[in-house]
Amino acid sequence: MNQQTISNTLTVIHNRKSVRNFTGESVTQDQLEILLKAAMAAPSAVNCQPWEFIVVTDRKTLDTLADALPFAKMLFKSGAAIIVCGIPAKAHKQMAEYAVIDSTLASENILLAAEALGLGAIWTAAYPYPDRMESVRSILNIPSDVIPLNVVPVGHPTGEDKPKKKFDPKKIHSETW
Ligand SMILES: Cc1cc2nc3c(=O)[nH]c(=O)nc-3n(C[C@H](O)[C@H](O)[C@H](O)COP(=O)(O)O)c2cc1C
Repeated sequence: MNQQTISNTLTVIHNRKSVRNFTGESVTQDQLEILLKAAMAAPSAVNCQPWEFIVVTDRKTLDTLADALPFAKMLFKSGAAIIVCGIPAKAHKQMAEYAVIDSTLASENILLAAEALGLGAIWTAAYPYPDRMESVRSILNIPSDVIPLNVVPVGHPTGEDKPKKKFDPKKIHSETW
């Protein structure tokens, strides 16, 4: 990896932020494909890739999700949403924990890829709340053995949301706790 690639990667990591303010502009199929390719490039335990994704661009469905989820009102203005689903039956040792861990890594890749494209995105929770998971399951016809991990609204940022300063040297232990 050359110096330019390294600094681009770090710039994207440090500029990523949860975007809650969208312009309402739509997201193209090409952009969504880039996000999904990034998602599926994530690591997973024993490379099981226990994830599947629902892409929603239909305005009515986005609004229905926004109505149902208490902390995902930004869906009213997002151009799309990706619902990241964990599949315990496909995870290492069929463990739900691995389905959640691996799908979380795929989700972070979506958030980073959105930043890299100049788009905005945010993790809004379905898992681990039974009521929110049930809402997402029933709106999107997700089978009961599939975990709807989150709903990730994607759109064009207004620019209001900024990255937070989080680096804290006190959280680093040297050699022992
Ligand atoms: C597991 C998880 C659940 C989250 N759920 C929500 C949510 O339901 N609604 C929301 O507005 N933000 C949600 N967030 C976003 C966090 O609030 C956000 O990541 C955090 O405040 C740090 O800000 P940053 O992403 O801009 O760095 C969630 C993030 C994670 C990782």
